[in-house]
Amino acid sequence: MNKERKLIVAGNWKMNKTVAEALALVSDLKLELANVKEVDIVVCPPFTALCEVSKAILDSNLRLGAQNMSENNAGAYTGEICAGMLKEFSVRYVILGHSERRQYQKESDALISKKALAAHAASLKPIMCVGETLAERVASQTEKVLETQVRGSLAGLSKEQMEETIVAYEPVWAIGSGKTATTRQAQDAHAFIRQRLAEMFDETVARRVRIQYGGSVKPANARELMSQPDVDGALVGGAALEPRSFAEIIKNSI
Ligand code: PGA
Repeated sequence: MNKERKLIVAGNWKMNKTVAEALALVSDLKLELANVKEVDIVVCPPFTALCEVSKAILDSNLRLGAQNMSENNAGAYTGEICAGMLKEFSVRYVILGHSERRQYQKESDALISKKALAAHAASLKPIMCVGETLAERVASQTEKVLETQVRGSLAGLSKEQMEETIVAYEPVWAIGSGKTATTRQAQDAHAFIRQRLAEMFDETVARRVRIQYGGSVKPANARELMSQPDVDGALVGGAALEPRSFAEIIKNSI
């Protein structure tokens, strides 16, 4: 696939996989994907598996991501994990503001933007998630919601930091539901987000930022979604838990 930006496909494992299961998955992925150079491939295991997975993928084309981090650097924040701790395991990416955290942990755009700044300060690349609920789409609020989330969660980033940031458009109604956005819905949302980036930063930055689609991405729909001009990769949940389906998504996008 001839794309303006290099595709980036990330697997968000969520709260799945013991260390042994995580190692089995990455060992299969390493074999399946050894020859892929056209796509940046990221795996995001739970915190407890980062250390072992980090060692297991050292000699591979897989890169490591975390699923969340604290906006603080150290101190009395029981149960939290900071950027410096992730860096110990060669983590390069961190998913921020996933809709499950927005919903269950009540994370706000203001908090997510603080986390993004803390990630950049540690040279971690944030994968910033935005997306509307079904009720918001039905009420024709999609663009309004995306505008608020994009402006709020990316507030305060420099142009250089924005270029090193990945945005993930994940319609909440498509996550884990088996319902995927149509290619038209995805392309429209991605183009809308890119326009907002041009307004907030500039045209050059907006052209360089990679915007992933997420929400029930499967081997069967990956190619069509990623063939859209403004879709630069995928954030994959359920289908990233099996080596065959995650590898096929990546191979189908090339
Ligand atoms: P899904 O999850 O692929 O299982 O829909 C995507 C995500 O939540 O990132």
